[in-house]
Amino acid sequence: MGKKRLVSGIQPTGRMHLGNYLGAIQNWVSLQDDYESFFMIVDLHALTSVYEDPSQLRKSKRELAIDLLASGVDPEKACLFYQSEVVEHAELHLYLSMVTPLSWLERVPTYKGKIAELKEKDLHTYGFLGYPVLQAADILLYQGDVVPVGKDQLPHLELARQIVRRFNHLYKTDFPEADESLTHFPLLPGLDGRKMSKSYKNTIPLSSTPEEITALVLKMTTDPQRVRRNDPGNPEVCSVFSYHKLFNTEYSLKKIDAQCRAGSIGCVDCKQQCAALIVDKLATFREKRAYFEANPDIVDAVLDRGAKRASEVAKDTMKCVKKVIGL
Ligand code: TYM
Repeated sequence: MGKKRLVSGIQPTGRMHLGNYLGAIQNWVSLQDDYESFFMIVDLHALTSVYEDPSQLRKSKRELAIDLLASGVDPEKACLFYQSEVVEHAELHLYLSMVTPLSWLERVPTYKGKIAELKEKDLHTYGFLGYPVLQAADILLYQGDVVPVGKDQLPHLELARQIVRRFNHLYKTDFPEADESLTHFPLLPGLDGRKMSKSYKNTIPLSSTPEEITALVLKMTTDPQRVRRNDPGNPEVCSVFSYHKLFNTEYSLKKIDAQCRAGSIGCVDCKQQCAALIVDKLATFREKRAYFEANPDIVDAVLDRGAKRASEVAKDTMKCVKKVIGL
């Protein structure tokens, strides 16, 4: 028996942020030892929302590849590649679109949500409605067993399982229905307390300098009832405290909790302590990032090798898919 397969993806629509890292990428890195892993930079998914102006896409893809390598994705253990380099994603997407009822897609919470959220973009397209079908194809192409993602992706994974189930039923096959794997931080709040997300512009990009991180943390929302420095605060409603919970020690956490409730620590001091913890946590990342930025040939070679290996597996799956459909 070979290793089980791990499959996941990330969109190159902006800089990789702390939510991506703590919600998913950390898990990619820790699970890559135990699984045969396929990690893709999903540029075709990104195109569904930036098709009107894809001018930044090439740069964003590359920056993201560097971020992923700096985060600890190990090309000796995992296959890292651009989705559009493996044409079978588009092909399988088409076959899966045949068996996917429209009503399943219209019901996906992210579909209507994103259209309402991103008003400046026209997302009333065939491609955007089919976004989760493409995601199902990404997973099925590598016959993924486990998919490490953040909580916001669960509806997409459920739909991917439904599509595979229907495919298996129609064509008498038994492709795996992938399980999700969540981290301890499946939904990280952003600077404004809503989900950290590129589309809300409330992120802390991993590639920020220490000064940028501090400036961002200083902008974070705190307890709105706490107006003056000496007012007693409620840490439970404060985004900064939720970050302390992630990064600080039990001892310091108790201390800050008590100081906030007593009004004896100001929000600026508390934010500065928080920023220092994040800066510290990302020290190795910054070092590795600088290395890959200075060595573009290494990054290119990793992506080329990744696409070649992914293509081999994808071709095998497609042979089987076409055969069972009867094409
Ligand atoms: P994307 O690019 O939005 O996000 C990449 C990963 O980061 C997680 N994430 C978060 N986790 C915790 N807190 C947050 N605030 C937060 N924001 C983002 C996401 O859950 C995700 O795991 N549709 C996918 C990409 C995709 C994919 C796939 C994933 C395409 N094909 C196949 C898995 C398998 C997406 O847009 O992720």
